[in-house]
Parts: sequence; C-alpha cells; structure tokens
Amino acid sequence: MDPVVPSSTSPDWSDEHLLRAPHGGYQRLLADAPVSWSSALQAWVVVSDRLVRELLVDARLSAQGPMAFMAMLPPEEAERLAELREFYGHWMVFSDPPLHTALRGRVLPDWAPSRTACHRPLVEAAVADAVRPLVGRECDAVEELARPLANAIICAILRIPASDAALVAGWAADIIRFIVTPRPLVELGHAALASVRQLRGYALERVAEADHPLHAVLDLGPTAVTATFAQFLTGGSDPLSAALAGTVDVMAGFPEQWRRVDTGEVTVAGTVAEILRYTCPFTLAPRIALADIEVGGRRIAAGSSVLLLLSAANRDGARFPQVDELSLGHPSSGQHLTFGRGAHYCLGANLTRLVLEEFVGHLTGVVEVERTGPAQWLPAFGLRAPAVLPVRLRARTRPTDPGRSPLVPAPRAPTGPPAHGGRGAAPGGPCLRPTEDPEPGGFV
Ligand code: HEM
Repeated sequence: MDPVVPSSTSPDWSDEHLLRAPHGGYQRLLADAPVSWSSALQAWVVVSDRLVRELLVDARLSAQGPMAFMAMLPPEEAERLAELREFYGHWMVFSDPPLHTALRGRVLPDWAPSRTACHRPLVEAAVADAVRPLVGRECDAVEELARPLANAIICAILRIPASDAALVAGWAADIIRFIVTPRPLVELGHAALASVRQLRGYALERVAEADHPLHAVLDLGPTAVTATFAQFLTGGSDPLSAALAGTVDVMAGFPEQWRRVDTGEVTVAGTVAEILRYTCPFTLAPRIALADIEVGGRRIAAGSSVLLLLSAANRDGARFPQVDELSLGHPSSGQHLTFGRGAHYCLGANLTRLVLEEFVGHLTGVVEVERTGPAQWLPAFGLRAPAVLPVRLRARTRPTDPGRSPLVPAPRAPTGPPAHGGRGAAPGGPCLRPTEDPEPGGFV
C-alpha cells in the first residue's frame, strides 16, 4: 500500500481551462491515479467507476462534504458565515442520518415515479412553448432555450409564479455560486447569505400550501424548509438546464448518431441514458471520511475530504467502452453514475428523464440542429454546463412522415420499460397522492 504521504498527481483544479474542460484530464487519471491527493482542492480525488460506485454506498463516508469546504474559510469569516454553514448543513444532499432520513422520507412520495408522471402534460407544453419561437433562426441554446425551459418547469412544480421567477432565480444563483468554486470565496459567501435570508420568508410561504411537493418538511422548521426549497430549486434547474443544453450540443456535434434516433433505431429512453452518461452535469459527489479507510491502495485519514468524480467514472473504459464518444443505444449507457447511487440517489432523476424524453422526442420531430459558433463552458467546479451555445434550429424540410407538418413532433419510438421504474402508475391512479410508493429501482 502507498504511504500516507499525499501525492500531488492530481491536476491543478483551480486552472480555469481545466474547469471548463475537465474531461481532457480524466483518461490520464483513470490510467495512472484512480485515487489521488489534490493540494489545490485539499481533497482526495477518486475517479474510477469501481471505486466511485463502491464509495457512494460506503457508510464510512459522510455526505457533509461542504462542511470541509467551509472550514477552509479564515476563522473570523467562518464565524460571520455560521448561519450559511447551518443552511447548507440542512440540505438533504449534504446531510447524514438522522437528518437525511427525516428530510428524504418526508418528500420521497411526491418525487416517486407515479407522482412525477403527473407532470408530463406540463412538461410537454413547456417544451413545445420553448422550442416554437426559436425554430428557423439562430439562437443561444443556453440563454434562450435550456435555462428558461428548466426554470419554467422547476418553478411550476415548486409553485413559483412566473412573476417571481427572475427574483427567485437571482437568489438561487447566489446560493449555488458560492459552492461551485474549488475554494470558498468570502464575497460570494456574503452574497449567498444575503440571498438565503431573502429566500427564507418566500420559501416558508410557498411550502405552507398543503399540496406543495415539499410541504411535508414544514414540521422540521424554517432552516430545513429554506434549505430544502433552495436545494430543489438550484439542484433542479441548474443540472436540468445543463442537460437540456447538453442535448442540443450533442445533437449538433453527433448528427450521424442523431439520425439513429430519427429512424427509431435507438429508443428515446436509450438516447436519454447516453446523453446523461455523456453530459453528467453534476461532476462530483463530495464526502468526508468518518474513519481511516483504504481506497485503491491509498490510505485516507478520518476527517479527509473525498471527491467522487461521477463524470470521470462515466468515462471509465472498464465499464463504458465508448468513453469520450456519444454512443446512443449502447447497452452500458444506463449504468451511468450521473444521478449518484445509494442513500443520496437523485430525487429528481425521474423528472429529469421525463423532461429529456419529451425534449428529445419533440426536437427530433421538429428541427435539425446546426452549430453557428463555438460553445463556451462555465468555469465552474462541480457543475459542467455550457455558458453559451450558438446554434440554428432548422425546421425539418423532410418530415419522416410525408403527411405530418414539420412543426408536429415525430411519434416517439417506444421507450421500453423505464430503467428506474420510470413511468409506472401508482395503484388507484397515477396522480393521486400515494400513501406508499416504492422507491425507484435505481436507488441502489
Ligand atoms: C440532469 C439533472 C440532474 C442531475 C445530473 C442530478 C444529479 C444529482 C446527484 C449526482 C445527486 C447525488 C449527489 C450525492 O450523492 O452527493 C443528486 C441528489 C439530489 N437531486 Fe439531483 N440531479 C438532477 C436533477 C434534479 C432535479 C430536477 C431535482 C429536483 C427538482 C433534483 C433533486 C435532487 C435532490 C433533492 C437530491 C438529494 C437526494 C438525497 O440527498 O437524498 N435533482 N442529484
């Protein structure tokens, strides 16, 4: 086994070029250093599919990774931002039992497959409304399509009226911006705190509505309500927007693959699975070792920060032979770790698949996507998303069905049985609030 002395084989994650294009470094890390110490991040970085998969379900790792991130603040700033630390500490994704169990248990039924399926008409209309004005012209697929579409869907589900959407999006941006840098930046922390304070009253008011999908957390108090509301807002719309923009990006980048969707050679569900593997918007799951552990021959001391790189694991040739290429319909696509695994498996996975299925189905019938300029990527750490994506959505001139108008989506190929329990309906009707809904099969 390697000595405890940390190595510095990990790349410089504070390098802006690397933040914009992290995939470039993955193959070398996978081959030479599946577990490495990063001095820039003050964390162990794990990249291999096998190790990431194992550690996601290892109870010796705590999900309170951002606490280690905030501990990097100078002590007097940590003190001034204590309320912010308390707030992030109540995010479901950054909590351990018993808080995690209490939060997740309360909202799970409302995000189960049968409840999610009830959002399909809303999603279908939102997709059509977002695409329609862009057909036939050049646009920025991030600003004009992916972001407004993701926001519209998440706001509708969280009952945020359109008139409040911009205000709430501003708070959400401050709250997420602070935690997507490799090291905490004090001024971003204060901006985040100011927005958390503004969001609190708003979230409490919304969640107090008896049929709000987060209503069940109300009894856990204002911090839990604000944190949960913020997590569903940011943890929902940011990666959803990134996945939608990523879909447009791959449509433009791999036209020959896309023709296979068109002809029905690959199913919409298979297409979405591979888009999720390839785009992987949340690139990592942050953890803290609760005990001394050995990982891939390295000793990780209790208290160390550990970053599980989901997006690197998704490009590990040991599981995904297609690695850096988009390979629609590949049998291994559905094994991606884009939604994590185990106790923290993404609660929005069903909704995300539903949105992407509608989006892929709709775009395939209506447009061909053509790049009109280079894509630019956000220099964010932990979130991989295009910042600018110039494309032209060309109306189809040659509809697959001669009787069909180019603005009517193609009938979707059968999606087959959903990989994670997808669209099942609860007994007693899909849109009734279920008393007991099985956890989706993908939760392990
Ligand atoms: C492409 C879209 C999405 C991606 C890539 C994604 C990714 C993830 C990942 C990787 C985790 C686990 C993190 C960890 O283990 O540390 C997670 C958790 C979570 N996600 Fe998502 N997510 C997406 C969309 C959504 C949406 C739309 C929502 C809700 C509106 C959502 C809500 C959540 C929640 C509440 C958790 C925490 C679950 C827990 O800790 O028990 N996500 N997501």
